[in-house]
Amino acid sequence: MYTRINIKTPDDWHLHLRDAEMLKAVIGYTSFHFARAIIMPNLVPPVVTTADASAYRERIMAAKPKADFFKPLMTLYLTEESDGDDIVAGFRDGLITAVKLYPAGATTNSASGVRDIEKVMPVLEKMAAAGVPLCVHGEVTDPEVDIFDREAVFIDRVLAPLRNRLPELRIVMEHVTTEDGVSFVESGGTGIAATITVHHLMINRNAILAGGIRPHYYCLPVAKREKHRSALRTAATSGSEKFFLGTDSAPHTDAAKLQPCGCAGCFTAPNALACLAQVFEQEQKLGNLEKFASLNGPAFYGLPPNESTISLVRQPEPVKFPDKIQTGAGEVTVFDPGMPVYWNIEKG
Ligand code: NCD
Ligand code: ZN
Repeated sequence: MYTRINIKTPDDWHLHLRDAEMLKAVIGYTSFHFARAIIMPNLVPPVVTTADASAYRERIMAAKPKADFFKPLMTLYLTEESDGDDIVAGFRDGLITAVKLYPAGATTNSASGVRDIEKVMPVLEKMAAAGVPLCVHGEVTDPEVDIFDREAVFIDRVLAPLRNRLPELRIVMEHVTTEDGVSFVESGGTGIAATITVHHLMINRNAILAGGIRPHYYCLPVAKREKHRSALRTAATSGSEKFFLGTDSAPHTDAAKLQPCGCAGCFTAPNALACLAQVFEQEQKLGNLEKFASLNGPAFYGLPPNESTISLVRQPEPVKFPDKIQTGAGEVTVFDPGMPVYWNIEKG
């Protein structure tokens, strides 16, 4: 049995840090565990231009604990008015790493997203030619489509046609949640990969409605039935270079979550890596943890893996995580894995 594993420091390929007081309160949980993270641009207003991204990057660096090495990898929010030349210039200058496509209305702060993919084709063509990756929130927003089917329908209606039309565009299917998504990515050639969250590896949709409604398990894409969680576990632990960790840690205050129309998002930054080790242990795949957390992501993005290392150390008793953290914006509840987690992280 493994009791200590040393791996290259992981990166988080999908993260929400927010801004102002929330940013100050949450950044340290990520910068303690991760060397780099893809920073989601869904602020209000969104991060649309490279100038917006540079300013946001400065705020992140100012909020970061001084002792931690941490490199935010900035993204731009794609709108129907986005400027392809600004995107390509920002990418070439190293100011941005990717562009994020939110279908309008698909999730938190996505009102400025894309309604008609035709309108952004010229920008996507420039991105494809310059090698700028597109991160995709893969859900249709058609209210006629059942919420549990929105990822599979997005693949049929949007993603598969886009892949056929622009096969050179590098795509990351963010927070994949279904076996349909897993097989699409597996069979899609080298230009497509997917991130998987820790919470989608730990809970299925029953957790959201176990004995009552549990708002802290509500996120988008919503957790699916058990066969999908099982497919995600197989993909994440397989070692396949097409899958890598993106926590989608998405802090909202309890006041924003606990109301008649509560926000979507799970705040996992404090315990994501410990929970991930637990999942890999359960699947008897700890030997593949480094690939999923630290190697496959940089390989897809064309970046070197981190040189530093961390240790995951198995404890004799379950580790206690805080239930909540205090922030200047209000309390935020930490993801409850709903199962004992025995792993602790030590920086090496
Ligand atoms: C994210 C957020 O709160 O910004 N919420 C979520 O449920 N994951 C947005 C997103 O990534 O969909
Ligand atoms: Zn997200």
